[in-house]
Amino acid sequence: MSQARLKIEVARAALRYVEDGMLLGVGTGSTVNAFIDELASSGLRLEAAVSSSEATTEKLKAIGVKVMDLNHCGDLALYIDGADEVDAHRRLIKGGGGALTREKIIAGASRQFVCIVDESKCRPILGEFPLPVEVIPMARAFVSRKLTGMGGRPQLREDFVTDNGNLILDVRNIDLINPNQVERDINQIPGVVTCGLFALRPADKVLVASESGIETRG
Ligand code: A5P
Repeated sequence: MSQARLKIEVARAALRYVEDGMLLGVGTGSTVNAFIDELASSGLRLEAAVSSSEATTEKLKAIGVKVMDLNHCGDLALYIDGADEVDAHRRLIKGGGGALTREKIIAGASRQFVCIVDESKCRPILGEFPLPVEVIPMARAFVSRKLTGMGGRPQLREDFVTDNGNLILDVRNIDLINPNQVERDINQIPGVVTCGLFALRPADKVLVASESGIETRG
């Protein structure tokens, strides 16, 4: 089965968590795009969605879903999103699409976070995928030096500005044996908006699509 097919399968599996009339948090990326397509043909009617990126907002609006500002909602019942890497404790690396900050805000504001991936995203230890870190533009060089001091090799994502007007440093070589501590340490560097580690608030469930079907973790 192709990776694109696996994304569709896991997107479809996520629909069983969605209920009519729900206020739903929606992530960003190709797996989430497949989820939005499945949502469109499911017959489910959301009250509204809170979106993690301009790209997702556009796609949700195109299928007739009302998109709300998080400031006008309470906590969300459910958040559906993909990931770049997942470990056995449902900790994640996210931000390959650059939407990590809004994604982390929505994950934090949601009672349940269901992460949808194909099996290529599963790792025994996080860190093969370069860790995205969103930084305020004036802090780029300072944060790079700090990340280098932590053993990382940061690289500016070329020609990319986040939806929040900031930059992304993609960090290779960082030791993620203790991702909770690394998440705290990076997020404390002045000028860092947030890093793409979702360890302190991991996913509640991870649905993994493979040739043998959908595995539910958590
Ligand atoms: C977006 O910023 C990311 O966090 C995505 O969730 C992640 O990159 C997964 O994207 P794909 O579903 O396209 O692999």
